[in-house]
Amino acid sequence: MDEFKVTPWEVTGEIDYKKLTERFGTTRIDQRLMEKLKKACKGELHPMLRRQFFFSHRDLNLVLGDYEKEKGFFLYTGRKPSRGMHIGHLVPLLFTKWLQDRFKVNLYIEITDDEGFLHKKERTWGGVQSAAHDNILDIIAVGFDPQRTFIFKDSEYIRNVYPLLMKAARKVTNSTVKAVFGFTDSTNIGLSLYPAYQTVPTFFEKKRCLIPCAIDQDPYWRIQRDIAESLGHRKTAAIHCKFIPPLQGVRGKMSSSGRSESAIFLTDDEKAVKKKINKYAFSGGQATVEEHRKLGGNPDIDVPYQWLKILFEPDDEKLQQIHDEYSSGKMLTGELKSILVEKVDGFLAEHRKEKDNAEKSIQKFMYKGRLAKQMWEHIHE
Ligand code: TYM
Repeated sequence: MDEFKVTPWEVTGEIDYKKLTERFGTTRIDQRLMEKLKKACKGELHPMLRRQFFFSHRDLNLVLGDYEKEKGFFLYTGRKPSRGMHIGHLVPLLFTKWLQDRFKVNLYIEITDDEGFLHKKERTWGGVQSAAHDNILDIIAVGFDPQRTFIFKDSEYIRNVYPLLMKAARKVTNSTVKAVFGFTDSTNIGLSLYPAYQTVPTFFEKKRCLIPCAIDQDPYWRIQRDIAESLGHRKTAAIHCKFIPPLQGVRGKMSSSGRSESAIFLTDDEKAVKKKINKYAFSGGQATVEEHRKLGGNPDIDVPYQWLKILFEPDDEKLQQIHDEYSSGKMLTGELKSILVEKVDGFLAEHRKEKDNAEKSIQKFMYKGRLAKQMWEHIHE
């Protein structure tokens, strides 16, 4: 029996990321590749790379080779709409923005309202649509380049991609989706078709595609890589991150379908953030202040420290100082938690400000920006 499980719909147990890369057949990002990336992007690497939160890839070396030879590449990522986005959903998007800023490349963002509807029996079509609208505002708030970004909703863009979808769908058999996703005879037929749609944006340009996402989405890219060349396209590349852990401890992933107190949602106010972190965040500290002063805390299992490391404290020196003071016992659990509360509040306030301005940019990202217009007029085949 596996001690952990990672699929696009379920993540459980304490994930051994080294084993997972072996199981999925992906490659770990090593020091040499990081150096190459650093050279290509002409600047410091993103903290999520430096700290190995983005840890695995497929063909990233080929993407960088294409970039060096001025063949270019493009980015693609996505989101299955749900009522509330949590900070985990934002992580691949923030990293994608960094890549777009550094490399000045086109970006396609797929909003999978079809997947959201098919996946959960209790959801209504209308409910999924309003979640999609709200999630699109959160995505716009990240600050992508409106001329180089195309955000599209599956149900709306289908008329433009139906031929591409059919070409992909003809190559994917029932036995493949059963083996890759665990579908059974009682899985609805919509879900059996859906994986082909998730491969389609990788065919939007003749250039190589690079997909930033958490590692749970990789099974789709295995399918894409099996069919791409027979369709006259390149195998997609991908760069995978780990999961931001839930508040209760470093097992599984932060998820919106789990307990609401295990995630920080983008809509959580200061009171909710404080309560969740103080009450639920798993601590690597000792049981009493005396013991903590004597033995120190363990940052490796401490969720507040891990969150600072992944997202909320980009300054390496400050992070190191927190690490040292906490492990020596000088900094107490409560102090560490208040640092995190303050950082999360600042981050969410900034995000909400951007989101309040996002509605007026929808037209640009989805229909009228340079890339959006080009996509509605023309599909590259
Ligand atoms: P969805 O909406 O479940 O997740 C959106 C993105 O967030 C990542 N993610 C996380 N990353 C870090 N920590 C977490 N706790 C965490 N939880 C989720 C996911 O890996 C994903 O990158 N089928 C997709 C939608 C999709 C897509 C894509 C995603 C369509 N095309 C291309 C990535 C790339 C989905 O259900 O994502």
